[in-house]
Amino acid sequence: MSEVQFKNKENNMQINSKKGCVLWLTGLSGAGKSTLAEKLYDYLIENGQKAEHLDGDNVRSIFPKTGFSKEERNNHIKIMGYIASRLENHGVTVIASFISPYKESRELVRQMCSDFLEIYVATSLEECEKRDVKGLYKKARANEIKNFTGIDDPYEKPENPELIIYTENKTVDESLNEIISFIDTRSC
Ligand code: ADX
Repeated sequence: MSEVQFKNKENNMQINSKKGCVLWLTGLSGAGKSTLAEKLYDYLIENGQKAEHLDGDNVRSIFPKTGFSKEERNNHIKIMGYIASRLENHGVTVIASFISPYKESRELVRQMCSDFLEIYVATSLEECEKRDVKGLYKKARANEIKNFTGIDDPYEKPENPELIIYTENKTVDESLNEIISFIDTRSC
């Protein structure tokens, strides 16, 4: 992994400091974003990197009034993007896992960050609904949950993501290794 090198003016010692980046995982609920993000976080920490993981369900459990209208989702993504950009600025590798269904807010976050790498976790709706780990698709189909992404709310696929991960017919570790190989080719 590449490093930024600079001289400390006071003692002229060379200090190695990793430059931060933002790995933004987007995709449907149940696509595998959080699972991959958690494993990636563990991998980076074990390898001595400064890393942080921001996750939709975790943030929403702390701020339960964050809604799911277009405006609320875009605002939530803007706030998370801002936090990601501040952490990145301090050399942290930020892993963000949010559905982030709207292109406009993903693009806004891209503009906010210095090195924004969009990773589209491209699991199909059919597969996410089949997995239905949290039972939410069933509830959405029964109209018990409104504005559910992919059912009665849109998901705008990324047009030019830096990486696409197809999780179907693959193990979690295989998908994880694809992300690790990718970030090894980038300066983060
Ligand atoms: S985002 O659209 O604003 O980016 P975020 O990633 O924070 O969403 O949260 C998504 C998670 O909220 C889902 O994985 C699911 O557990 C839960 N959730 C609850 N209601 C909805 C809904 N209407 N649409 C999507 N996800 C929902």
